[in-house]
Amino acid sequence: MTAKIIDGTSIAADIQEEVKIAVEAMQATHNYVPGLATVLVGENPASTTYVRMKQKRCAEVGIRSIGHNLPEDIPQEDLEELVGDLNADPEVNGILVQLPLPGHLDEEAVLNTIDLGKDVDGFHPVNIGRLAMKGRNPLFIPCTPYGVMVLLEKSGVEISGSEAVVLGRSNIVGLPVAMLLQKANATVTICHSRTKDLAAHTREADILVAAIGRREMVTGDMVKPGAAVIDVGINQKEDPTKKRGYRLVGDVDFESAKEVAGAITPVPGGVGPMTIAMLLKNTLHAAEMSLAD
Ligand code: GUN
Repeated sequence: MTAKIIDGTSIAADIQEEVKIAVEAMQATHNYVPGLATVLVGENPASTTYVRMKQKRCAEVGIRSIGHNLPEDIPQEDLEELVGDLNADPEVNGILVQLPLPGHLDEEAVLNTIDLGKDVDGFHPVNIGRLAMKGRNPLFIPCTPYGVMVLLEKSGVEISGSEAVVLGRSNIVGLPVAMLLQKANATVTICHSRTKDLAAHTREADILVAAIGRREMVTGDMVKPGAAVIDVGINQKEDPTKKRGYRLVGDVDFESAKEVAGAITPVPGGVGPMTIAMLLKNTLHAAEMSLAD
C-alpha cells in the first residue's frame, strides 16, 4: 500500500485565503489592517530568506509588514529598546524576532521582552508555560507545531487516544508539538539523540513527527503500518541534476516510508508551507484581540 500524500502546499493556500478574506473584512468594518514587525539581526542568509518570504506572504493577504534590519553587532539594550517601542506601537500587532540571534545576544531575555499579546511566534516562556499546563491555553500556538496539528486534523487523523512519537525536543518544534499532541489526548513519547532504541519507539507510533534534523534518518522499517508520518526536517542532499547542486529532503526517507505509512508529508511541500500560513493566522488573531480590547 502506498500512503496518502498530505499536501501542505494546498492546505496552507486554503488557510492563507481564509486569512486574506478576514483581513479584507477587518479593513471594511474597522478601517484597520493587521501589522507584523519583523526583526532581523545580521545577515544570516537563511534568516534573511525566511524573513523576506514572511514579508511577501504578509503582502499577499493584506497584512502590513514593518521590517527592522539591524546590524550584527547591535547591543542587547538597543535590541530590547526596539522591542519595547514595537510593544507600544498600536499599529504593530505581531512582533517576530527571527532566530537564531548572533551569539553575543541573550535570546531568552529578548523573547521575554515581547508583549504577550504580540508574541505571534508563541515563543514567550509564559506562552509556552500555558501550552504545557492542563486546563490553560496559550495566546498563540507556535507556528510550525500549529501547522503540524492542522495537517493532522485536515487529513482526518484521529489524535485522541493515539500513540504519538515525537523525534526531537527543540524549543521551536519538538517540545511544543509534544505538548499540543498531549493536549489533544494522544499518549506522547519524546525521543532524542540519547534515546537508546529509537526504532522500538517509532514502530509503536500511530502518529510519528520527525523533527530531529538528521537527513532521511527514519526509514520505512521504523514506521508502523498505516501510521501518519509528519516530516518537519529540511536538509540538503547533493543532487548533480539540480542547478544549485542539491535538493531538499526531510528527516524521513520518503521513498521507503511511503510504502508503509497510511499518510505522509513530502519535503518540500508538507510542513514547510504551513509555518508562514500559521504566522499569518496568528497575526490576524493578534489584531482581532487588539480590536476587542
Ligand atoms: N527560526 C527558525 N524558525 C523560526 C520561527 O518559526 N520563528 C522565528 N522567529 N525564528 C525562527
